[in-house]
Amino acid sequence: MDVLLIGGGGREHAIAWKLRQSKQLGKLYIAPGNAGTAQCGENVAIKDSDIPALVKFAKDKRVGLAIVGPEEPLAHGAVDAMEAAGIKTFGPNAAAAQLEADKAFSKQLMRSGAISTAEGRVFDRFSDAKAYIASRDEPVVIKAAGLAKGKGVIVCDDPAQGILAAEKIMVDKIFGAAGDKVVVEDKLLGEEASILAFVDGHSIYVMESAQDHKPIGDGDTGPNTGGMGAYSPAPIITEDMEIRITREIFVPTVDAMNRSGAPFKGVLYAGLMITSGGPRVLEFNVRFGDPETQPILMRLQSDLLEVLLAVCEARLEDVFLKWDPRPAVCVVMASGGYPDEYQKGKVITGLKEAEEGGDVVVFHAGTQLRNSDVVTSGGRVLGVTALGANIAAAKARAYEAVGRIHFEGACYRHDIADKAIQRKR
Ligand code: AMP
Ligand code: GLY
Repeated sequence: MDVLLIGGGGREHAIAWKLRQSKQLGKLYIAPGNAGTAQCGENVAIKDSDIPALVKFAKDKRVGLAIVGPEEPLAHGAVDAMEAAGIKTFGPNAAAAQLEADKAFSKQLMRSGAISTAEGRVFDRFSDAKAYIASRDEPVVIKAAGLAKGKGVIVCDDPAQGILAAEKIMVDKIFGAAGDKVVVEDKLLGEEASILAFVDGHSIYVMESAQDHKPIGDGDTGPNTGGMGAYSPAPIITEDMEIRITREIFVPTVDAMNRSGAPFKGVLYAGLMITSGGPRVLEFNVRFGDPETQPILMRLQSDLLEVLLAVCEARLEDVFLKWDPRPAVCVVMASGGYPDEYQKGKVITGLKEAEEGGDVVVFHAGTQLRNSDVVTSGGRVLGVTALGANIAAAKARAYEAVGRIHFEGACYRHDIADKAIQRKR
């Protein structure tokens, strides 16, 4: 079967790499892809935002399946357009993608389904938000309700900071129209985890757990990024906790989506805070996480294409997945300056050497081919991912590989997976 994969980040390289292992896969097209996906299939020069061109390409090539990786095309109806053209497509439609694209919608849905989340309110006028924040005594979190590349959240220590943050988002529009509405919620304490599940409208398959590292700096310091590294599994997610998450979060969310008239099909990603009172939802995403997908798919031993088809055909209940028991750690190498301004076009060396010895895959994100060189073309450049006998060994192997890769200005965190290593002690 020929497949079109839409997107060009680290997540898409991981999906393409895993699909390539499927015996059922014929041609794989990736639009627009990166220098890494070019090793797994054929990159197609169509932007992930150009939905009509993507649909035309999928029809011309008669692909058996289209897969939409990133949130923007999902929110803009890529799945609706593909399906209207008769193409089987993995991912939620625009109505269901609101769960990520509109935090006001998801807050309301969680309230209606009694799904545990931080106490919060939605505002579309700064004066109302200001009055509410001023009335709170505790630290608050201010979130642009729309899509902001994972950066639209400001965690504040006190109401004064909260008011400033709301002003930046609602009045100064630092995240553009994504900040027309904000969610103001209480700050939760605990450890975070990312739990991703395949959902086919009714059945739910919860994947192995993961943990992301959002802030740019070691020790979770500095501004939030798209994610600077991840590992799987997350030791904080015990078997009992996974059962609670399924029962208290995934089941009622899938039910609430059905009741709201927007049944969910695709990957449902719950960003959770594990508090002393149990799991609470920080956010929902409607797609594979980036960089969580890199360690998760490195551990998946079953055929990914088969699972994606089962989701599209609403027969997920028949699916059983095998996982490598070994943990995986992914360290993101970013361009110097990210998440602010950074330069592009830096030549990357050591990519082959990094994978020598096995159990390491260097997933590309912001990379491009320039003649015979691989050069940087984005903020997050590579996701160097390694398996190990235990989490400490996987970390050591990943950083050893990172040490073999060079590009001017490369920066990365040095403490990916330390939380898991400490918990295991
Ligand atoms: P989100 O995009 O909503 O997951 O938020 C990005 C990051 O902000 C999360 O990964 C958390 O680190 C932090 N965050 C979001 N909401 C809260 C909250 N209610 N309490 C504490 N931290 C939060
Ligand atoms: N790793 C966070 C995200 O995919 O949004």
